[in-house]
Amino acid sequence: PQGATVAKFAEILGVQPNDVIKRLFMLGQVLTLTQSMGDELVELIADDMGRKVRVVSPEEEYAVVYHDRDEDLKPRPPVVTVMGHVDHGKTSLLDAIRDTGVAAGEAGGITQHIGASVVNIDGRKITFIDTPGHEAFTAMRARGAQVTDVIVLVVAADDGVMPQTVEAINHAKAANVPIVVAVNKIDKPGANPDRVRQELTEYEVIPEEWGGKNMFVEVSAKQKLHIDDLLETILLQADVLELKANPDAEASGFVIEANLDKGRGPVATVLVHRGTLHPGDVVVAGASYGRVRALIDPRGKHVDEALPADPVEILGLNSVPTAGDEFRVFEDERDARKLAEERALRARLAEQETKSHVSLDDLFSRI
Ligand code: GTP
Ligand code: MG
Repeated sequence: PQGATVAKFAEILGVQPNDVIKRLFMLGQVLTLTQSMGDELVELIADDMGRKVRVVSPEEEYAVVYHDRDEDLKPRPPVVTVMGHVDHGKTSLLDAIRDTGVAAGEAGGITQHIGASVVNIDGRKITFIDTPGHEAFTAMRARGAQVTDVIVLVVAADDGVMPQTVEAINHAKAANVPIVVAVNKIDKPGANPDRVRQELTEYEVIPEEWGGKNMFVEVSAKQKLHIDDLLETILLQADVLELKANPDAEASGFVIEANLDKGRGPVATVLVHRGTLHPGDVVVAGASYGRVRALIDPRGKHVDEALPADPVEILGLNSVPTAGDEFRVFEDERDARKLAEERALRARLAEQETKSHVSLDDLFSRI
């Protein structure tokens, strides 16, 4: 917990800073004017002075609720995540999909350096997120973020349902995201797609033709068999969802990965969820902020906008955010900076607190 500095606290309550310091001292806390008191101390000392305060977290202070009118919502492309057990062919499948998209003569996307790609199928876009860090995915889900619209579950036909297959199913269920099953490696001699169907029924992933809700496609990533069918199925599934977003708003979305690039500084790949992001926009991403210096699409091209469901790299942040962080455009650079700095301070203090094991219990035991 961060809370106000001693000076700020005294100023807000209109009391003598020395009085605050004295009272803190009585509680075993030696603090100077410029040190932060922590939310608990703020409440404790205020109470001690016969005052009631409520600490408003920056999250609360800057909380926004998005309200889009129906007429502002426009159809948007689906965001698809490919999941499945190790070696079942996720990467191969994405490669095959990208090739298809490019071969179709459209502006297909080939991902080289960012963890997402956009494929263009007959003028319709699909955004694929490549093997998102398990952590990022969980973090986003914990925040109630619907980052992915469809999960493509890759199951090797010669291997069947394995532990990470089940993990992916659990992810999808917890996030309430529909699963399209890609039964892969059907070219292999030992392939048994029906066994995969049978095994998946145990986890309530049931083919439509068996009366269930899941679409199944048998593919070979290696031989590029039925990749078109899979893409068509994904689009069918997306149609059912009637995905929409308001593009005419200040952009917000999620960080899907981030790193420190030697030459370019902090680089964050974000997925725009709502609104349109432009170079020059001031953004806060987790505890980072900055003015967008450049937007780079999955093909490495500088672009001047990113629309809902677009993955894009952002340059210009002051530090590296964490995968799963929310990002949002701010009108006022000072607000952006304030929020990011407060978050960064909170994170640092929380870390210190864990390190030094100072807790409220310790505080009381010292009284
Ligand atoms: P991880 O990222 O390690 O979890 O694996 P992955 O799911 O991305 O699998 P990947 O695409 O790396 O494929 C694993 C192995 O299976 C590779 O040797 C591929 O060549 C092979 N493979 C993938 N798809 C097929 C397929 O359709 N048929 C055959 N025969 N082999 C395949
Ligand atoms: Mg892989």
